Amino acid sequence: MERKIKSKDGREIITSMTISPLRDSEGQITGASRICRDITTLKKAEERLLLAARLSSLGELSAGVAHELRNPLSGIKINMQILARQKDLAEAERRLLKSTQEGIDKIQKIIDDMLNFARPKPANFKPENINDVISHSIAIIQDKFKRANISLIFSKEENLPGLFIDAHQIQQVLINLMLNAQQAMEKGGTLTIRSAHHENGGVKITIKDTGSGIPKEHLHKIFDPFFTTKSEGTGLGLSISLKILENHGATLEVQSEVGSGSVFTINFPPERTCEV
Ligand SMILES: Nc1ncnc2c1ncn2[C@@H]1O[C@H](COP(=O)(O)OP(=O)(O)OP(=O)(O)O)[C@@H](O)[C@H]1O
Ligand SMILES: [Mg+2]
Repeated sequence: MERKIKSKDGREIITSMTISPLRDSEGQITGASRICRDITTLKKAEERLLLAARLSSLGELSAGVAHELRNPLSGIKINMQILARQKDLAEAERRLLKSTQEGIDKIQKIIDDMLNFARPKPANFKPENINDVISHSIAIIQDKFKRANISLIFSKEENLPGLFIDAHQIQQVLINLMLNAQQAMEKGGTLTIRSAHHENGGVKITIKDTGSGIPKEHLHKIFDPFFTTKSEGTGLGLSISLKILENHGATLEVQSEVGSGSVFTINFPPERTCEV
């Protein structure tokens, strides 16, 4: 029998309970014994394994579909471009063409994201200065933040070890996390990126926003592919990021409170550090 209970220190733990009869020397039942075991860690590992299996079959399926869609879509795109070149189009026809082209671009992005998720490009690991990688990522989306009334703070620790990473892929992760933060701060706010030594000898990066926060019931779903709460979202940003980080031996954790904001933490283990 499995049950969720609150431990003395307030944590929710999963326990497995076995009840067996106690018998005397004649075989008569004289009582019962109850053994309770904390199986939280075991359950969590089981959940992660199941998720991994689910993701890999889903990944294969979506890659197949995405791949098949790619060629007809580029055909449609070219046809649209040829039509748009016509000079004698009425205003209404131009508007139709424009919105069709925007739709095609959106589909193209979803297909690219799906292929990227299912068949990520092999990583090209090199020794990198992580503060430089963060600075580059910030430079790419700085304007977006200004327009959205968000102040950006980069608090970097100097003298960090080098990291043996694919800078391009880690940049993609940082941009995904920063975009999510921006989208969660609709009325503006503050985004703080911090790089620091981890007490275990690795490197820790935190991305903290003062946005809407994530409701408890969504927290375990946000890394699932296609989970999104946004009308314009695909729901692949976090699952691609998690996959890239796992391939780097790194972890991604989230803490969030509705109304005050979220913190995403990337931990690069000591084995990833190197000389730069
Ligand atoms: N910083 C954040 N603050 C609040 N909610 C967040 C934050 N980051 C992620 N989420 C929640 O997690 C969901 C999944 O995020 P994810 O990046 O995977 O997809 P998306 O942003 O919805 O779409 P996509 O990234 O594909 O454009 C979001 O829709 C949102 O509900
Ligand atoms: Mg996103």
